[in-house]
Amino acid sequence: MDAPRLVALARAGPASSGASRPSRPRPARHAHHRPPPIGKQWRAQPPRGEDRGTSDFLETDRLVLRAFTAADIDHLLALDNDPEVMRLINGGRPASREPVGTRTLPRLLHDYPCREPRGYWAARERTTGAFLGWFEFRPLEEHGPAVVELGYRLNQAAWGHGYATEGSRALVHKGFAELGVERVTANTMAVNVRSRRVMEKTGLSFVRNFTGDRPEAIEDSEHGEVEYQLTRTEWKQPR
Ligand SMILES: CC(C)(COP(=O)(O)OP(=O)(O)OC[C@H]1O[C@@H](n2cnc3c(N)ncnc32)[C@H](O)[C@@H]1OP(=O)(O)O)[C@@H](O)C(=O)NCCC(=O)NCCS
Repeated sequence: MDAPRLVALARAGPASSGASRPSRPRPARHAHHRPPPIGKQWRAQPPRGEDRGTSDFLETDRLVLRAFTAADIDHLLALDNDPEVMRLINGGRPASREPVGTRTLPRLLHDYPCREPRGYWAARERTTGAFLGWFEFRPLEEHGPAVVELGYRLNQAAWGHGYATEGSRALVHKGFAELGVERVTANTMAVNVRSRRVMEKTGLSFVRNFTGDRPEAIEDSEHGEVEYQLTRTEWKQPR
């Protein structure tokens, strides 16, 4: 997969040797959904006139991923209160402030004792600063970054613009190139075609179907779950 265009931020270390993968021209399908062309160079500085937040983790052409803070509770409440966003996650049931504050937020603020401590990153649009949702790039082991789970949840208004793919590609690139990640895994309901498409466009491959253990009744959950993955070895291979 082509290396995504990233902006190196203060906490980012130097790209390790061999980080850039040979590029392969890809067919232009659904051009209106495609992220902007992906380049290979890293920019050492943010564009003129743009502030760099101290909690920023990663920048792409259109996104900034930053660490969550407790002040994000209203963003999270609005996101989890959209039944369409949550339809294939918990059946679309309404969210309330108390569990978002006591369960969701602490999960998103959890620090891992690995090199990059957080497992979830809030996404904002670079030009407008609008909160778009979040990305998960969470170590499955508390003390080691070798296996990380990729996930995403965006506001409905942000769907269909390639944001999920753009953020996921950048995280995967950073994970393999800088953070010592060996394998990226992701799973979703089998019927969540948008999410599966993002996994595929990020370079992950289908591994298996399995039966999930979902406490809530969700329409179409009888089709089960799917798991995708990308290993560092696969990522390094030219495609
Ligand atoms: C999953 C989600 C993050 C995708 O975000 P997004 O920014 O729209 O994703 P992208 O624009 O990068 O890519 C979406 C892809 O799905 C495709 N897609 C959209 N609707 C589709 C449909 N009904 N059937 C098949 N493909 C569809 C798009 O065409 C696009 O692929 P393309 O670029 O090849 O055309 C977003 O829909 C979301 O937040 N959903 C709710 C939460 C969720 O389900 N999270 C995943 C749980 S594991």
